[in-house]
Amino acid sequence: MKQETELIRLQKYIADCGVTSRRRAEVMIARGQVSVNGEIVTQQGIKVKPSSDQVVVDGKLLEYNSAAAKITLLLNKPIGYVTTMDDPQNRPLVKDLYRDFKERLFPVGRLDINTSGLLLCTNDGDLANRLMHPRYKFEKEYRITVAGRFGRNELQMLREGVVLDDGFARPLRAEIEHIDERRTILTMVIAEGRNRQVRRMIQTLGFQVTALTRIRLAFLTLDGVKRGGWRHLKKSELKCLQSLGEQA
Ligand code: URA
Repeated sequence: MKQETELIRLQKYIADCGVTSRRRAEVMIARGQVSVNGEIVTQQGIKVKPSSDQVVVDGKLLEYNSAAAKITLLLNKPIGYVTTMDDPQNRPLVKDLYRDFKERLFPVGRLDINTSGLLLCTNDGDLANRLMHPRYKFEKEYRITVAGRFGRNELQMLREGVVLDDGFARPLRAEIEHIDERRTILTMVIAEGRNRQVRRMIQTLGFQVTALTRIRLAFLTLDGVKRGGWRHLKKSELKCLQSLGEQA
């Protein structure tokens, strides 16, 4: 059994409180958004004692309960919603789609405002951490509508990989589903989650993405979840995500 006096890393403490994933917590620490016992902490790696230390994030005192109920939703994000928890421009927030939960459920990773589709939202910092960690290589599949004819040559170039300003990117799979004079519909599977990665990969080849939907994450699909709707993840699905992470 865990000792009450056990020290845990600050980013884990923040993730356990359901604020965000551990990786995002590290960013919040670096930005000076976190204080411990009244002192702003920007250094990574410090440890806190849950039974006595007072951790404040963005002015809010956190309540630690490592056994708090974990909730994970699979949501079908409509376009026009942002995946941040607050928006200075007052645009619709993904969290408005599940506003009845008193728990603080945050989106796992991000989808652009103009991207729709599968997004997990959770208060389980460990799960979020695992899903976002590049080491685990969870597959993400996108349906991409591209303006104009994206032909066999372009598909071949995409499959071979493209150079982006943050490095080389190659899809695990890419297929043309439909092509006509006006548009091409592709599906593409990637294992990374770099910022605007799919749009940038297509743009590098001289094409514009006109619609983008995430249709799969690992074995999870949007089946039965309408636009703007969500469902709870089943226990078996959570177990499976866990074991996929462990195999990596
Ligand atoms: N790639 C993008 O370009 N945008 C997203 O929202 C997700 C992946």
